[in-house]
Amino acid sequence: MTSQPTRQRILSGMQPTNDSLSIGNYIGAMTQWVALQENYDAFYMVVDLHALTVNPDPEKLKTRTRSTLAQYLAGGVDPSRSTLFLQSHVPAHAELAWILSCNTGFGELGRMTQFKDKSAKQGIEGASAGLFTYPVLMAADILLYDSALVPVGEDQRQHLELTRNLAERMNSRFGEDTFVVPEPHIVKAVAKVYDLQQPTAKMSKSEVGKGTIWLMDPPKVAAKKIKSAVTDAGTEIRFDREEKPGVSNLLTMYSVFTGQTIEQLEQEYAGKQYGHLKVDLAEIVADFLTQFQGEVHRYLDDPAELDRILATGAAKAQAVAQETLARVYDRVGLLAPGHGVA
Ligand code: TYM
Repeated sequence: MTSQPTRQRILSGMQPTNDSLSIGNYIGAMTQWVALQENYDAFYMVVDLHALTVNPDPEKLKTRTRSTLAQYLAGGVDPSRSTLFLQSHVPAHAELAWILSCNTGFGELGRMTQFKDKSAKQGIEGASAGLFTYPVLMAADILLYDSALVPVGEDQRQHLELTRNLAERMNSRFGEDTFVVPEPHIVKAVAKVYDLQQPTAKMSKSEVGKGTIWLMDPPKVAAKKIKSAVTDAGTEIRFDREEKPGVSNLLTMYSVFTGQTIEQLEQEYAGKQYGHLKVDLAEIVADFLTQFQGEVHRYLDDPAELDRILATGAAKAQAVAQETLARVYDRVGLLAPGHGVA
């Protein structure tokens, strides 16, 4: 159904910075996107402008952007329900980011932990201004669509907080209905998938080792990563984030892929060894990936269909974004083109 004007709007995005999304992206965000598209007017984009902050190879960025879109589709994002588009196809994102950046404190951005982590890795001198202002562009992404909810993983919480602060600041300066103040949609049970080798750290897209499962990993490779996941002292299979972070992480994945609750799994594995859990989960994940990758390739083999989805999405997104941008331009004192001309 397309004509449900009362549905609240939601928006989210992922960066096309790798050939593959991670299983953390899938569990923490994409499963929520798919669930929410049923009842919300959902806008999901590939944030290709954000990917430029780490200076990608141009050809790789193009390939990865298409591949990210194909992974959204294979993961169940449905273009007949959701608006799917590329951030760079809607110029209003960069335009609103400028207005917002003029209302954002230098110190505020300096406190963003993702900036601190990333710039520490590459050295502050090597970090681009784009990496620094990254959260402002993200705030523009969200505020342009009057988004009520933003489905993301836990690592985006601080960026969402900044977005809310900016919206409130602009509203008190330029009028209460300048922006809708968005709520984060962070589902605790799945909001942070942990590294398989280091189960107290987030599973990260920037890691290359055995700790991250990629959605495009050969299924056998993924199965092997699960079988060699670090588990905890003791033998009992029980969900306990503090005492048993490794086992708890595996139980979370198991629960997402089978729909069984953690309690059901604890009962099913009572008296069994960690090895049993890993072997079973490895098979479940490998089966999922085989099916998922089949779908990805089906979409990648039909570039005309991908282009059609993107063109439809861009047109819908542009219409909404342009209206918000015009409202904001007016509020902050920019003259509309043709203003004052008789
Ligand atoms: P990105 O591309 O790093 O991650 C995409 C989404 O995946 C979630 N995620 C995880 N969830 C659980 N466990 C993990 N290990 C894990 N790793 C990643 C992220 O929380 C995210 O939801 N800044 C964003 C992209 C963005 C955006 C936006 C998001 C740009 N504009 C507007 C929402 C709204 C990012 O870098 O996501």
